[in-house]
Amino acid sequence: MNEQEKAILSSRVAGIFTPSAPIDHAALFAGRAAQIRAILNAISQRGQHVIIFGERGVGKTSLANILSDKLQQAGYQGVITNTVNCDGDDNFNSLWLKILREFSVARRLRPVGFVQGAPAIEVATLNQFVSSNVTPDDVRFMMERFVSRAVIIIDELDRITDRKTTRLIADTIKTLSDHSVNTTLVLLGVADSVDELIAEHSSIERSLVQIQMPRMSQAELFEIVDKGLAQVQMTIVEEARRHIAHLSQGLPHYMHLLALYAAQEAVQQDRSEITMADVQVAIHEAVRRTQHSILTAYHQAINGTWRTMYDEVLLACALAKADDLGYFAAADVRAPMKIIMGQEHTVKAFTRHLNDFCAARRGFVLQRNEATHRFRFKNPLMQPFVVIYGVAKGLIDESKLNEILK
Ligand SMILES: Nc1ncnc2c1ncn2[C@@H]1O[C@H](COP(=O)(O)OP(=O)(O)OP(=O)(O)O)[C@@H](O)[C@H]1O
Ligand SMILES: [Mg+2]
Repeated sequence: MNEQEKAILSSRVAGIFTPSAPIDHAALFAGRAAQIRAILNAISQRGQHVIIFGERGVGKTSLANILSDKLQQAGYQGVITNTVNCDGDDNFNSLWLKILREFSVARRLRPVGFVQGAPAIEVATLNQFVSSNVTPDDVRFMMERFVSRAVIIIDELDRITDRKTTRLIADTIKTLSDHSVNTTLVLLGVADSVDELIAEHSSIERSLVQIQMPRMSQAELFEIVDKGLAQVQMTIVEEARRHIAHLSQGLPHYMHLLALYAAQEAVQQDRSEITMADVQVAIHEAVRRTQHSILTAYHQAINGTWRTMYDEVLLACALAKADDLGYFAAADVRAPMKIIMGQEHTVKAFTRHLNDFCAARRGFVLQRNEATHRFRFKNPLMQPFVVIYGVAKGLIDESKLNEILK
């Protein structure tokens, strides 16, 4: 390839692997079959609504974006899907005005005096029919009266800080469900938003299907790379594919990030197959171009007056076996510690580090659940970063990583 051809292919690759943007068409969407099935099931039952919850960056918005395609494929015809994003200042009223604005209806204009011919038709949006103080019952009425079948996706629910708004959303679910209205609400947010919503109205528990979005499995991560590379007729050697999946720790953001830089490096080297050498370059590139906020937080966590072993312990935490919500116990840190350090350490040897990681001085990089005494990374995106940086700095090599993650 000449330089111009390389540049063109490189920019096509950048359109496919998009670490910072949700997927917006089905051809690049990977996995999530169980979640899609559960959502379609709920949508098919009147009175059922859905909440999808998961860590930041696991792929909630991407799933919502391809939902209307999936509905069509599953034979749901004539369902209108509309998505709205919540922001910090939203209240119930502003939220529903945004949603109702997305629905158009045709209305017949009543002629004034005697006019011949067909009556004029005007297209209006539903927000024009409500007062400026929308209530849950207004929503019920509008949906029942004007919309035959709709799925309304409300993304970033956790950004709503006003309790009254959460309560009114819960009331809306209850009203739509009690009246068996043919509109399904699909809410997306982090786990705490489910608890808040249900706390407002325990009786909605029955009408709200809760779907957890876990981190991606290895097979799902592989699918991201395979589908993406197929679009540009490229391939990847098995070892390299496995390595980037390991480093990504189930978070599709990192799969996109590493695949992007590795594929661009292969293009630069005039190869259509990605090799381990390209992945090594991608790792350094990922560290170099990582968000400034993550890098700063990482350095705050490991650099202090008392420096011994902080980077190794943080790396071991990032590689500790965690539960579905990302929590691990101090004892889980021992196994990766042993492989990283080449010798056994008791929990006591790093208790101080774990406690420090939960304190302001180290930027609260970890948080501790006081009831279970388990830890997790406050920002889930930090965890794979610690591993990627660990590899880039030579704190751990590929064979040790394989040994820990096998
Ligand atoms: N099923 C998928 N297939 C391929 N790529 C995906 C998939 N899900 C997510 N991604 C990619 O992962 C990254 C994060 O996805 P997304 O923005 O959808 O997550 P999110 O859970 O909505 O994040 P946030 O909590 O920050 O809103 C994006 O780069 C997106 O392209
Ligand atoms: Mg999102």
